[in-house]
Amino acid sequence: MQSIDDVRHALLAKVVTSDNPRDILKAAEIKALYSKLVTLDPSERGAYGKAVNDLKVALEAAIVAREAALDDETVQSLDVTAPWDVNTGPVGLLPTEQGTQHPLTKELEVVIDIFTRMGFAAIESRQIDDDFHMFETLNFPKDHPARDGYDTFRTEEDFIPPAHTSTMQHRILKDGKAKLEAGGQIASVSYGRVFRNEDVDATHEHTFYQCEGVFVSETATLADMLGTLQAFFEAYYGQTLKIKTQPAYFPFVEPGLEFVIEKPAALGGKTGEWLEMLGCGMIHPNVLRAAEIDPAKYQGFAWGGGIERLVMLKYGIEDLRYFESGKLAFLRKFVS
Ligand code: DAH
Repeated sequence: MQSIDDVRHALLAKVVTSDNPRDILKAAEIKALYSKLVTLDPSERGAYGKAVNDLKVALEAAIVAREAALDDETVQSLDVTAPWDVNTGPVGLLPTEQGTQHPLTKELEVVIDIFTRMGFAAIESRQIDDDFHMFETLNFPKDHPARDGYDTFRTEEDFIPPAHTSTMQHRILKDGKAKLEAGGQIASVSYGRVFRNEDVDATHEHTFYQCEGVFVSETATLADMLGTLQAFFEAYYGQTLKIKTQPAYFPFVEPGLEFVIEKPAALGGKTGEWLEMLGCGMIHPNVLRAAEIDPAKYQGFAWGGGIERLVMLKYGIEDLRYFESGKLAFLRKFVS
């Protein structure tokens, strides 16, 4: 039979290398010490019992220290640069719930999927840009009053977190020029976050999402644009829709229009209840010229609008602020 001291040394040595240190509390050696206790003369039991107890306290402390060391090893082996599903092994430290996509991300994917199936290339829009792309190349001359409508933030260095995805148009046109001149077409959508210095309420946010389309060819017409947009909205809402347009002013299109749909009955609409969904028009010759595309030879259309508005109509969401609120009760409704 080992002495209490022997057992103590042996078990403490085991703890520091064990992967499951807590199991050592159930070691046969400890059971043997307890078995011996009941065989002792009652006068010896007090001191012996206390010594066994001290051993367990020391062991417990060593186990806690070992467990902490094991946790550290696990954290050190976590690769923060790895794809999202790589660190979720038998770690036990990471949340077991994985979380899900934000409803806007999910819906944006639906939107992009529809346009890519129509043949549009999709690119993410920038989150920091400059006056040249946000205004100048879009036919907003310096000091033009239409600039005021965009409530732009500016950094101290005079960069702009873009107030619309139209900020990508010039790049799309410039990049597509060669394809156009080789007999092809420019067909791109750009999507992403935009920012406006606005008072926030149920229909205004400082941060929201837009999707923008640009199409240029030798023959593009306004009818092509209306057909494209109607096909998109019908695909997104899964039903036929009545559409109309009304005139609107945007410096980068001529004519400029608002694309309006009748709110579908399935989504709680009444006949004659119209909703403005986005801005659109034929690309202004000055915008084509800025990208060195000859407006006498090529023409195109463009549109741009908010993603939240689409999603709010689809799901009957009444307050835009929910999207950026991080409210789990709201977000969980979109978990599929
Ligand atoms: N950029 C405009 C806005 O945010 C929307 C827009 C209107 C985009 C007309 C376009 C367009 O491409 O042709 O208010």
